[in-house]
Amino acid sequence: MTETLDIKISRTTASRLQQTDFDNLPFGKTFSDHMFVADYADGEWKNLSVIPYGEIGLSPAISALHYGQAFFEGLKAYKHADGKITVFRPDKNAIRFNKSAERLCMPTLPEEIFLQSIATLVDLDRDWVPSKPNHALYIRPFMFATDPYLGVTPSSTYKYMVLIGPVGPYFSKPLRVKIETHYTRAAEGGMGYAKAAGNYGSSMLPARKATEEGFDQLIWTDAKEHKFIEEMGAANAMFLLDGKLITAEAKDTILDGVTRDTVIALAKEWGITVEERKVSVAEIVEGAKNGKLTDAFGAGTAATIAPVASISYEGQEYFLSDPKTREFSNKVFDTLDAIKYGNVPDTRGWNY
Ligand code: COI
Repeated sequence: MTETLDIKISRTTASRLQQTDFDNLPFGKTFSDHMFVADYADGEWKNLSVIPYGEIGLSPAISALHYGQAFFEGLKAYKHADGKITVFRPDKNAIRFNKSAERLCMPTLPEEIFLQSIATLVDLDRDWVPSKPNHALYIRPFMFATDPYLGVTPSSTYKYMVLIGPVGPYFSKPLRVKIETHYTRAAEGGMGYAKAAGNYGSSMLPARKATEEGFDQLIWTDAKEHKFIEEMGAANAMFLLDGKLITAEAKDTILDGVTRDTVIALAKEWGITVEERKVSVAEIVEGAKNGKLTDAFGAGTAATIAPVASISYEGQEYFLSDPKTREFSNKVFDTLDAIKYGNVPDTRGWNY
């Protein structure tokens, strides 16, 4: 049996629930009444507590702000028709959380703290979980270094926190994506597989340039030659080429996505050949031209299954089939929805 942790709960005296417009929930802008906080010092995690959501006082010298010892996770909770609330595959996020921690020379977090911090917070703020289709409670666990010290050395103190808030869809329409051939998201030996804050910071300039050119997202390619497809924006890139599901293999430049893993598991169950391997830009562009690329989408917690409308490469834009008619990604989307919202039995044990 897992031990029940001692989590101190201080409730808010002024809930914002009634003032929240659940019909207008842009991603990441609404936070629930409470948040979770724990401190790491003297080699252990302590002061596990749930407190009212709000600002926290920090020294301007904390090393997270200067040297980027900071990372996060993203997962979601869903409300079932009977009112039950489940979190999708948090054990996978707990594992990845610690991979990020290790890469950034930060302390790991016991899985039970990760899971119970989320369970306690979601339970307390359960009225914040939206019940509309395509809506969920987004859960953002994160850790950052808090030593007020400007030496470039790992901090000795850290904070682990969890924020939660109701969200609607991250993308509102199929995406026009551009294959990036100059900027790089991750290099071998780097930290692409970690959810390091800096990975997202460094993606913003290239993403903004792409937006200025009229695109919605970038497809990241390998750092050496820009010939192999790695990820799509902040999601994994997945393709159905010649009837096979293909995606970049999970390695040090690729985020080992929970949605990615889930899509692969479903595809295998359905008897579809899955290839996790190097995916060349050439084969994807060729497939877009000759019609063998029948599906393309980003897979992520925030993005869910985000269909690609067109792929641009070296100034040419290739339009794919109408996303509404794509068999595979629509089946994945519907199946995932049915599991997450409890409309079919959870035979795979994915709902926590
Ligand atoms: C998530 O899917 O949770 C992500 O990490 C994407 C986020 C940066 C919006």
